[in-house]
Amino acid sequence: MDLGSLEITGGVPLHGEIGIQGSKNAVLPILVACILGEGICVIENCPQIRDVADTLEIMRHLGCLVQAANGTVRIDASCVDTFETGGKEAARIRSSVLFLGALLGRMKKAMLPLPGGCAIGERPIDQHIAALRQLGARFYLEEKIMADASDLKGGRVRLAMPSVGATENAILASVLAPGETIIEHAAQEPEIDELCEFLRLRGAQIGRTVEGNICIQGGRALRAVRYRMKSDRIVAGTYLLAAVATRGQVTIKDFPCRELDALTSTLRAIGVSVACIEDRIEVNADRPLRAISYLETSPYPGFPTDLQSPMMAVLCRARGESCICETIFENRFRTVAELQKMGAKIHTEGRCAVVKGVPTLVPARLTAPDLRGGAALVIAALQTNGTSVIQNTGYIERGYEDICRDLCGLGAKMRWGM
Ligand code: UD1
Repeated sequence: MDLGSLEITGGVPLHGEIGIQGSKNAVLPILVACILGEGICVIENCPQIRDVADTLEIMRHLGCLVQAANGTVRIDASCVDTFETGGKEAARIRSSVLFLGALLGRMKKAMLPLPGGCAIGERPIDQHIAALRQLGARFYLEEKIMADASDLKGGRVRLAMPSVGATENAILASVLAPGETIIEHAAQEPEIDELCEFLRLRGAQIGRTVEGNICIQGGRALRAVRYRMKSDRIVAGTYLLAAVATRGQVTIKDFPCRELDALTSTLRAIGVSVACIEDRIEVNADRPLRAISYLETSPYPGFPTDLQSPMMAVLCRARGESCICETIFENRFRTVAELQKMGAKIHTEGRCAVVKGVPTLVPARLTAPDLRGGAALVIAALQTNGTSVIQNTGYIERGYEDICRDLCGLGAKMRWGM
């Protein structure tokens, strides 16, 4: 589906210093939250990626005036005049479902295309719908999602699972709903807290209780603000893993150390030296790597599902057998077949994969199966002594501004295909 290719010649240990782009998973709900009030919001350090471009296009369809240049986005949402997200972009990106909550808040109605499954799994939206129903929304599901919330009001929202997107949708709807909302079993991911921080700046009363619930006093008009995005922990983790995979020595600036504790402690366990000093991390991976007996993905603060494939690419050459279990998305092992083309020894059984470390990987012609799986193949290709080609790199561009620019800055030999 997605075109584009990367040519990578591996065998060079990465070295040097790198900064990190703004967070994709935080900016998507924050952009959507710009439609909750009038005036011009300015978002700085906005990652220049495909998912952001698609989100901005949906906002233009809704009547927003949007200007984007060099990572700064200005959004004037004064003229939002429709509750229908038309256009191919809404059907293309999963996160368009966040417009549901925001439109119900602002317009009291919403109409969206039904989201399908995607490369990493079915990704149903039952939790989103259940949460919004608990705030008074009524749904009509046919070829599209139609929702009406003429008497939207605050209330108790109990999520059956801590879904990131459903928590964000409940927040986006309840900020303009009069009364108190408490979201129980809310997702704990830092991107949710960044959304809350943005909304607080806009004048919303929103915070987390000690139990981790989200509490909102809704119904206040929001003001326009200027906000600077924090760095993307998944991109930071990906580049850290690329450094480790190539046995490199790299410093990453703006590294969210506390938010990536699950990754750094896993790296220490396999023999990597990592030192977090304030908001920088120094990694030195010149010693041989050991396998990890068991690693499972889980909601924050557990090991992030988005770094599971990149971690697997590193473990392909660690000494011994590693067992990785994926508990969040059912279809995150499509990377395995590609890694096997490079000589990786991986056996999957259901949601678990056993990776038997091999001394070397060989170059191959590869196809990115999804966004993070594509990044994992880049990490794998950097470990070979030879040239690999990765196709379908449009997936990678959905989340990484320019993975080629960034890794070449650390000495990698790679270039975009013609
Ligand atoms: C977000 C992130 C994604 C990350 C994921 C988990 C964005 C744009 N994407 O995705 O990068 O991998 O969190 O950290 O922020 N589920 C249901 N019903 C629902 C909602 C979810 O069954 O209504 C299931 C999903 O299929 C999945 C699990 O719950 O198996 C987690 O999904 P969720 O936390 O909602 O992830 P996303 O918000 O889609």
